[in-house]
Amino acid sequence: MTTAQDITQLVDAVYSERARSGINPSSSGAASSAGYTTEQLSSVPEGANLGLGCGCPVPTAGLQKGEVVLDLGSGGGLDALLAADQVGPTGAVVGLDGSEDMIALARRNAKSKGLKPPHVAFARALLTEELPIESSAVDCVLSNCVLNLVPGEGKAAILKEIFRVLKPGGRIHLADVVAIREMPNNVKNDMSNYVNCISGAMPREEYQSLLEAAGFTEISLINLEKDLTACWPRPMQIEPQSSAGGNKSCCSAQQSDTGFSLDPNEFVSSYQISARRPREPAVPVSPTVLKNWWYAYPEVRSTPDAFTAEEVAAFIRDPTKTSKDFTVIDVRRNDHAGGHVRGSLQCPAQSFYDDAPGYFEKFKDSENVIFYCQSSNGRGPRCAGWYQDYLNSVGHTSSKAYVMAGGIKGWMSRFKGEEGLVDYD
Ligand SMILES: C[S@@+](CC[C@H](N)C(=O)[O-])C[C@H]1O[C@@H](n2cnc3c(N)ncnc32)[C@H](O)[C@@H]1O
Repeated sequence: MTTAQDITQLVDAVYSERARSGINPSSSGAASSAGYTTEQLSSVPEGANLGLGCGCPVPTAGLQKGEVVLDLGSGGGLDALLAADQVGPTGAVVGLDGSEDMIALARRNAKSKGLKPPHVAFARALLTEELPIESSAVDCVLSNCVLNLVPGEGKAAILKEIFRVLKPGGRIHLADVVAIREMPNNVKNDMSNYVNCISGAMPREEYQSLLEAAGFTEISLINLEKDLTACWPRPMQIEPQSSAGGNKSCCSAQQSDTGFSLDPNEFVSSYQISARRPREPAVPVSPTVLKNWWYAYPEVRSTPDAFTAEEVAAFIRDPTKTSKDFTVIDVRRNDHAGGHVRGSLQCPAQSFYDDAPGYFEKFKDSENVIFYCQSSNGRGPRCAGWYQDYLNSVGHTSSKAYVMAGGIKGWMSRFKGEEGLVDYD
């Protein structure tokens, strides 16, 4: 029996492969069939459009300047980046996707458009779990051809999660496929049909009743009557793989050059689905969107060693030591002036990852780059790890990242009032 977890893993393996293989000659034709204009497609980096949608939700979502948008199953970032244009610099867009490769691709595409967190952020998250998004934080949830891929009871659960993250009065505007007739078992049980957004589709009545059960009002489901063979001219083919070799995925995925073995239009249709969270009861709106700011950045791979406060103090007290020997970095944002390690430089954690290449240019000649925050439990080790990851990625071995154990809290309790070890500027 195929469990929901098996399905989620298979979907992840297939779309991760799709992200790694990038655009192909059919991507732009497929996107045009899904409803995108040439102008829209040329306004985003080429790699954002993988030709995977079944509609084009952004232009009809009524997005306003300053709105907060969440795109579920954001793929290469196509709809999120188009939404970013609509909401402008005072708005915010977060894209969530379960595939690490998709998230990495979307982040590259955002970067090449000059967009970065917290204005435009992409974070890895499974739609089968609680979303890493604050409650009542979002004006509009978008999604393009994704909810059909969420297995079984996960569909009801994700609609409830969407309701939770919307502000009162917030709305959904989804493109998705809806089942238009009963599928025979051979169609339903073929996992190629599942990953190609056919056999996971719900009938319209079921979609409507799940939306109602989640609490939505003003529900509308409109059949767009698109030719889905034109939207997806090169469907994914999955080939089972032996589990030998330690490959975590169960299969490899390739795009077909010959199209579907069945006509998807027989079983599913592309729908535009919209609904609203009622304005009442009014609840406080969250000023932030992601539950943690660092979800917008890659996971830290390195685990830097620590220096004790005494070891750092020994560097500072030694008149022969210069910036070539050590640099101390305070990654706190607002609390620097309350006292910091003498000579430490302030590089706030929230923008550290994006600024790492610039910091590297400044600190690359320093043998020991030592990071701290309040207690050096969170931001300090995280930034030290990102910095070491950056050093590793550029093959720079003459410099190393460290954490100052105990952070400024430990430093102040040990050295407050001691000549030459604390600055207050
Ligand atoms: C058909 S593609 C659509 C991508 C994008 N919306 C577009 O139109 O280009 C489906 C996307 O949803 C993601 N996805 C599918 N199931 C998911 C799940 N359970 N949790 C998170 N992401 C999922 C896939 O990784 C993939 O990027």
